[in-house]
Amino acid sequence: MIAIRRSYMAGQYKSTDKLSFVIANDYRLLQVMSRFGISLGFGEKTIMEVCRQCGVDADTFLTIINYVKDGADNRPQRVEQVSVASVLGYLKRTHKYFLGYLFTNIRFHLLNAIDCSVQNEIAFLVLKFFDEYVEEVRKHMEYEESTVYAYVEKLLDGECVSIDNSHLLSRHHEAIESKLKELKNLFMQYYPQTENNEKLNAVIISIYQAEEDLSIHSLVEDNIFVPAVRRLEHQTKMRQPVEEETQNTASSSSEEQLSEREKEIVVCVAKGLSNKEIADTLCLSVNTVTTHRRNIARKLQIHSPAGITIYAIVNKLVTLNEVII
Ligand SMILES: [Fe+2]
Ligand SMILES: [Fe+2]
Repeated sequence: MIAIRRSYMAGQYKSTDKLSFVIANDYRLLQVMSRFGISLGFGEKTIMEVCRQCGVDADTFLTIINYVKDGADNRPQRVEQVSVASVLGYLKRTHKYFLGYLFTNIRFHLLNAIDCSVQNEIAFLVLKFFDEYVEEVRKHMEYEESTVYAYVEKLLDGECVSIDNSHLLSRHHEAIESKLKELKNLFMQYYPQTENNEKLNAVIISIYQAEEDLSIHSLVEDNIFVPAVRRLEHQTKMRQPVEEETQNTASSSSEEQLSEREKEIVVCVAKGLSNKEIADTLCLSVNTVTTHRRNIARKLQIHSPAGITIYAIVNKLVTLNEVII
């Protein structure tokens, strides 16, 4: 049934498609939506309209939902239209979901399904296996956040930092995925017969869903995020001599001096978002947003939101339609 619904729409999703239609075709996109900070209650709005309303980069959102939709066929993507900051926010929210909700939820169902009240060594071992597995994923995600994501934050802030190239390559993705598969198989093949079959099935199904979700996350990191970061690295390196030259001559084009992150913030300000909303959208702290806004004001010598909005329109960072006047 699910396979039929997913294959119903043959082409790529477009910005003019209604979001409700897209979700009806593939319920997994609900997760993608919320990881971009898009809530339910979108009515009859199109993807473009919802993204505009929520301050989400529509091209990035479309790239990811089409990637998820293509499933097993997904391969390296063209990332020219992808906003690195937007993908980074999406990935961070996905980590939060895995570590703060998904695994806790599976463990809850696991405890509910296995019988720990009697001598049951298999139940104990399954639980131990699961806890060790979650710890491994936690370490992997913390590693990504403290090295790769932190590095990308610096790139977005316009810093030309150097890093060992291997830091951007996928690490442990296959190991993480195969261990989850192993847990599922352990359950199905060796768990002693019980009267709790429905509860056990619910655990196995939730592990299947987690497996698919983790696999998509790893593929987005490897095939969308990393190529987009490579592109950003290239642009930053290309821009560096221009910036140095500009500093030497002390005559500058202010737009060139804004980092990618600052441009993201300019766009949010132009769309009428508060500092708190900008922080939520870009997965930053309010303090960081305040610092960026101070730097933007200094670099552009523009201090009012109205002025920033005009700057954003003139420099084609937003269209007039996207601006709330
Ligand atoms: Fe990750
Ligand atoms: Fe990863």
